[in-house]
Amino acid sequence: MIDAVLVTGGAGYVGSHTVRRLLEDHRRVVVLDDLSTGHREVITLFERVYGPEQFCFEHVSLLDHSALSSVFERHHFCGILDFAARTLVGESQDEPYRYFENNVIAFQNLLDVGRGLPIVKSSTAATYGEPGAEHIPLKENYQQKCIADGDFENSQLMPAAVDFGTLLGWYEQHIAFELCDEDIALLKIPTNVYGITKMMDERMLLHAEQQTGGRYVVLRYFNAAGADSSRLIGEDHDPETHLIPIVLQVALGKREKITVFGDDYATPDGTAVRDYISVVELADAHIKSLDMLLAGGQSATYNLGREQGVSVREILEAAREVTGHDIPEVIGSRRRGDPATLIADASRIQRDMGWGAGETLHETLESAYHWHRLHPHGYRVVQEERFNPFWNRWVNIASHRADRPWRGETQPMENSDDMAYDPECYLCPGNTRAAGDVNPDYKGVWTFENDFPTLVLDAYQTQAQLGPYLSRTSRGVCEVVVYAPNHSRRLSTLSLDAFVQVIDAWAEIYDRLGKVPEIVYPLIFENRGMVMGNSQPHPHGQVYAYCEIPGLVVKPQLAMFESHREKTGRCFVCDANRVEAEDGRRILINRPHVLAYVPFAAQFPYDVIVVPKAHAASLLDLNGEERRDLSAGLRDVLGGLDGLFAAPYHYTLALMQAPTDGVDRGYHMQVHITSLLRGPGLRKHVVGADIFGNLINPSDPDMTAEEIRWAMRKVKHHDPQINADKRR
Ligand code: UFG
Repeated sequence: MIDAVLVTGGAGYVGSHTVRRLLEDHRRVVVLDDLSTGHREVITLFERVYGPEQFCFEHVSLLDHSALSSVFERHHFCGILDFAARTLVGESQDEPYRYFENNVIAFQNLLDVGRGLPIVKSSTAATYGEPGAEHIPLKENYQQKCIADGDFENSQLMPAAVDFGTLLGWYEQHIAFELCDEDIALLKIPTNVYGITKMMDERMLLHAEQQTGGRYVVLRYFNAAGADSSRLIGEDHDPETHLIPIVLQVALGKREKITVFGDDYATPDGTAVRDYISVVELADAHIKSLDMLLAGGQSATYNLGREQGVSVREILEAAREVTGHDIPEVIGSRRRGDPATLIADASRIQRDMGWGAGETLHETLESAYHWHRLHPHGYRVVQEERFNPFWNRWVNIASHRADRPWRGETQPMENSDDMAYDPECYLCPGNTRAAGDVNPDYKGVWTFENDFPTLVLDAYQTQAQLGPYLSRTSRGVCEVVVYAPNHSRRLSTLSLDAFVQVIDAWAEIYDRLGKVPEIVYPLIFENRGMVMGNSQPHPHGQVYAYCEIPGLVVKPQLAMFESHREKTGRCFVCDANRVEAEDGRRILINRPHVLAYVPFAAQFPYDVIVVPKAHAASLLDLNGEERRDLSAGLRDVLGGLDGLFAAPYHYTLALMQAPTDGVDRGYHMQVHITSLLRGPGLRKHVVGADIFGNLINPSDPDMTAEEIRWAMRKVKHHDPQINADKRR
């Protein structure tokens, strides 16, 4: 097995963004975090989406030497990305020992246990202290120049709970690497305890390399901002002290105003100037650095910034533009320990590794805004009731950690049947069916009347009332639609052309049966897999063409179309499409004509809706291009679900189309795919409250969507059939 990357502090802001990128690169990751400031929800997301083969969480503190040692016994690591630290300047001044313990003693443990492994270490621009304007933009050798010029005879530490001498005393007492004169001179430059602890770490790395040969990269961040494009992870600190999140919280009405800490700095507009860099690009720099070390590169220290100074006032202006909201501000006094200007010269990492910041400030603010808008309370487990308009009912969403699909007892899911022809199958060409009919030697889609129909047109007439009970004639037509002669195929493995033939056949059936005078609703559906009560793997679906509009979904939907149009003047499906597309977190596919998503109020964990963007009442309203797009969308989703479960997916699929009774109700067709599975081999039991109360979905729809998306990406990566179609 490939060695994993150890990421300390991987549940935190920059750490989690880096972990996601590693996982997306198909790497194995072990996150070690004590969750003191990191988020359990991020870990749950990674566990759920990437599964135990790629991801493992160790809930361990770096201060616990023996627990840390056993983590190294359990795993093989190729390298370490070390994010675990406390990072707030103000807090470090008030609680210096906490910072010394967490940032320095803990790091010594990591160096000790991880002896010699390549390490990429988060450091900070706070190690530069308060540089004069002539040193901006800052180069990595600024501190060495200061020493050469004899700039700082005394420590620059601003008032804190302890003095510089005490910090040095703690170091000497607890840390094995001895401080040389150069170390002490360097430690005098930062103006706060946080910066000093990070400089101690940098020096320890150097000494450790001299002893063990372990190579390292130190990355000095300037101001990290923004969020991952998935909109599932972002910045969530408690308390929040950083400028950009606070500004966005004001824009969203969660805070009244922003206090600008000082407008009397020697900067163009008087407010402090910083270099804001996208967290996603920071994450990339870590991975590039690790790869450089793994390829045998030498130890180095790099700045990570955009190389552009932006003042607090400019941030406020940009945030007003991005959010379209007023952001009230007041001027306050300067914050202790804040330098006037910090801007990076990041040319060294550009030169050595080709890394450069490409994202604009607006883009970074936009991604941060999406995160804050969509997560007004930060990370949290979803436990709420949501109204599902597609079923016209409320659902209880209760996503709890213990319900992750990778946990619990599982039952095996059957593997794919690879026989193209099965002599025992009653749907294969030329075989005899149960009622004695012989199947034709069909070549493409083939439809026949169900041998055991629930509905028939010549049913006996009845109409009765027995107290509260009523009865009426059960009339209609039941057909079976076989998708292909090849027994081993399923919708997800048909070629795109063959899938289009299925869609065309569904359209033909809907048209033909819809024209039968008595029929008012041709329902086309498919059940697949044992979990869904189907044991016939030959690719096929069914048709129930009713003479009364069925009551479970169609009737409530018709009521929903009517009530939503009365209230808003619009179609509820068009509105749901718009809301889902704007949100983005649950979108699985956004093709030219088709959208697929896990609905906001999913009733079952793997509810998926595939829906034309155009307001189409049925397949008959879709032209050839739109039908092809729908085929591709459905096939991608079903292929992804096969991949997710590492077996042919067990599902039920239904085409919800307009009734054919000639009444125009403004219907908008949808394809629903759902399952009783809640994870590989794990069945959701529909019992108790699910039957007598409200349906309970034990899964956060945002996470389910990410899980399916990841599976779809993996399948696309590997599937020769899809790749062949793409080349055509
Ligand atoms: N600011 C305000 N009002 C606020 C919050 C911040 O005016 O409510 C100002 C600050 O005074 C500062 C600027 O916005 O001038 C940025 O402040 P942040 O708190 O967002 O970031 P800092 O620059 O103080 O700190 C960040 C990291 C530190 C790191 C430092 C190095 O959080 O870990 O960058 O530059 F040390």
